[in-house]
Amino acid sequence: MAELGGKRLVLGVTGGIAAYKAAELARLLVRDGAEVHAVLTKSGAQFVTPVTFQALTGNPAWCDQWDARMPNNMAHIDLSRGADAIVVAPASADFLAKLAHGLADDLLSTLCLARDCPLIVAPAMNRQMWENPATQRNISQLLQDGVTILGPAAGEQACGETGLGRMLEAADLHEALTGFFQPKVLAGRRVMLTAGPTFEALDAVRGLTNLSSGKMGFALARAARDAGARVMLVSGPVAQATPAGVARIDVTSALEMHAAVMGRVAECDIFIGVAAVADYRPADMAREKIKKDDKSLQITLTPNPDILAEVAARPKPPFCVGFAAESRDLETYAEGKRQKKRLTLVVGNLVQDGLGGDSNAVILFDDRGRHSLGPAPKIEIARGIVAHIGQMLAGNEG
Ligand code: C5P
Repeated sequence: MAELGGKRLVLGVTGGIAAYKAAELARLLVRDGAEVHAVLTKSGAQFVTPVTFQALTGNPAWCDQWDARMPNNMAHIDLSRGADAIVVAPASADFLAKLAHGLADDLLSTLCLARDCPLIVAPAMNRQMWENPATQRNISQLLQDGVTILGPAAGEQACGETGLGRMLEAADLHEALTGFFQPKVLAGRRVMLTAGPTFEALDAVRGLTNLSSGKMGFALARAARDAGARVMLVSGPVAQATPAGVARIDVTSALEMHAAVMGRVAECDIFIGVAAVADYRPADMAREKIKKDDKSLQITLTPNPDILAEVAARPKPPFCVGFAAESRDLETYAEGKRQKKRLTLVVGNLVQDGLGGDSNAVILFDDRGRHSLGPAPKIEIARGIVAHIGQMLAGNEG
C-alpha cells in the first residue's frame, strides 16, 4: 500500500529527546510511498545525526542554510518548492515560538517562512514548558495562522515528570498525516457506524458470537474521520484501538447495540451498519453456569431487532449503508437486502474474502448498479466506500 505515494514531504527535526521518534516516522513515511527530505536544526542534530535520516530517506539530510551542496545556494527555497507539506516533528517550545513570530534565523525556520504548502507541527516538550502561557499563546497564534498541530500526548516524560507534552508516537503521526491528505468529502457530516460482533449470553460465562474482528468497521470510522466527518462508533466486543477523534460506545449484545444506536441516530446524517449483529439470542439467560449433567440441552432462540432496517425505516432516515457478508450468491443476496431493507447503498463481500483478515474485496450495490473495490487492505477499501458515499451525496456519481 502506498497511501502517501507521490507526496513530497519536508521533515523538520528540532532539538528534543523525541527526535529519536522522528527517525521511525521518516521510515514509516518512506515505506508508505512519500519522498522525504529531512532538515535538522542545530540542536536537533545533537540528538540524532543527519546520517540517520539520509540512510532512512535515501535523500541528503540538511542542517545548514549555507550548505554548499545546494547548487544555487538557495536551500530554503529549493527544499520547500513543490513540497506537499512541511512536518516538524518534534517541534520544540523554542521552535514554536520562532514560528509564531515569523523568525527565520536558520534553515528550517526560513523554510517554514518561505513556503506555500501546509505546515504541520508535532510539539514535544516538558509539561511545564507546554503549560507556560507563552507557549499556549504561541500555539493559539499558530492555529490562527492555519498551522496544523498534532498532539502533544499526555504521559511519562523523559525528564521524569508525567503530563501533557510528549510527542505523539511515530505510528500516530503517520496515521494523522495520511488522514491529512484525504479529500474532505464528508466535511461537516455526522456519521454513525456499528462494528464488530455481538455476544449473546447463554449463561454467566458462555454465549453466541461470530468471527467478526471489527477491522472493517474501525477502518471505515477512520476513513470517515479523515474525510472530515464527526464520527460515532458503536462497537461490539473487539480488540481494536479507537481511532483518535472518534467517539466510541462499547456494547456487548444486539439489544445493547440497538439501544445505543436508537438513542443517538437522530443526530446522524449517515448510518453505516458494519456490525455482524447476531440474528438470534437465547430466549433466557441462565444466571448460573449451565452444568453438563443434563443428558440433552435445549436452547430456545428468539430473533434480535434488525438495527439497520429499523434505522432505514425511520420517517426521516439518514443515508443508510448496509453490509452483506455472504458465503455464496453474493449479488442476489446483496441486491435483495438493499431492496428489502430500503438501503441507499449495500457493500457486499464474500466472507471468505474478508472476515477477520486485513484485506477485503467488495462490490458496492446502489441505484446505478454495481462497482467493485479491491482486493486491497481494509483501509483502502474503506476510503473507496467513503469516496463513493461522498459522490452519491454530492449527486454527481460518475
Ligand atoms: O440481514 P443481514 O444480517 O444479512 O444484513 C446485514 C446488514 O444488516 C449489516 O449491515 C448489519 O450490520 C445489519 N444488521 C443489523 N441488525 C441485525 C442484523 C443485521 O443492523 N440484527
